[in-house]
Amino acid sequence: MGIHTGEPLVVAPKYVGLEVHKTARIMAAGHGGQVLISETTKTLVPEIDVMDLGKHRLKDLLQPESLYQLHVAEQPSEFPALKTLENRPTNLPVQPNALIGREAEVAEVARSLTSGIVRLLTLTGPGGTGKTRLALQAAAELTDTFAAGVFFVSLAPIRDPALVVTTIALTLSVREVSGEPLERTLVAYLNQKEMLLVLDNFEHVVDAAASIAELLVSCPRLTVLATSRERLRIGSEQVYPVAATSSPGEAGCDRRLDEQ
Ligand SMILES: Nc1ncnc2c1ncn2[C@@H]1O[C@H](COP(=O)(O)OP(=O)(O)O)[C@@H](O)[C@H]1O
Ligand SMILES: [Mg+2]
Repeated sequence: MGIHTGEPLVVAPKYVGLEVHKTARIMAAGHGGQVLISETTKTLVPEIDVMDLGKHRLKDLLQPESLYQLHVAEQPSEFPALKTLENRPTNLPVQPNALIGREAEVAEVARSLTSGIVRLLTLTGPGGTGKTRLALQAAAELTDTFAAGVFFVSLAPIRDPALVVTTIALTLSVREVSGEPLERTLVAYLNQKEMLLVLDNFEHVVDAAASIAELLVSCPRLTVLATSRERLRIGSEQVYPVAATSSPGEAGCDRRLDEQ
């Protein structure tokens, strides 16, 4: 159970809004029989008997939240580690604001990446349409699916396609072995790992597409989610065009709040 307090919106017959969404995230972090309580609720009900579980990053990718476990008499109080981001192998960055809308797209991208058919999915579209944000959220939803983790590799700072493999290796803390090409070391590391790599801003380094194709062939359990203004043009690629949301900025956002 997840318990949080906030002001939802009523869109009959449901409660909707970011706080409802947060409650669902808190609930999802727990295990059967465990009752998790947010900081807001704990502050409002100071007399309840809780254990402080510390700060945790939920899959909404926002700042870590303090979570508490309610003590329920004669019920188990020992549970496995919470299903939150710090307990998974991932480096997904914190986002400054909540995701607005995009639930259908996030679900579609996540579904495609777990279909077992798509090894490379490229989110395409002009700058600012929300490709990176969509990729990050879809990746966050999959942190429990990819056993070896979900890693975000920013290619924005590089211009030389030859540095793509180096950047991936650096992100994964794979060190160069003397006398061996880095590609081979990376392939040996990734070999049987079930991992999702998010390669962000691939348009800067499209000439590196062939090395991604090789990586996918050599590492059969690797899946790649790329964002790029243009497609990578390699055989196994599936393209997912990302259109801008209807209204730029925050106008009209209320209608698009996540529904739970
Ligand atoms: N659905 C969304 N909800 C909230 N903020 C968003 C959403 N989509 C994009 N943004 C924000 O808008 C800005 C541009 O989006 P971004 O994903 O970086 O676009 P792109 O990668 O296509 O250039 C970023 O600050 C991002 O966090
Ligand atoms: Mg981007």
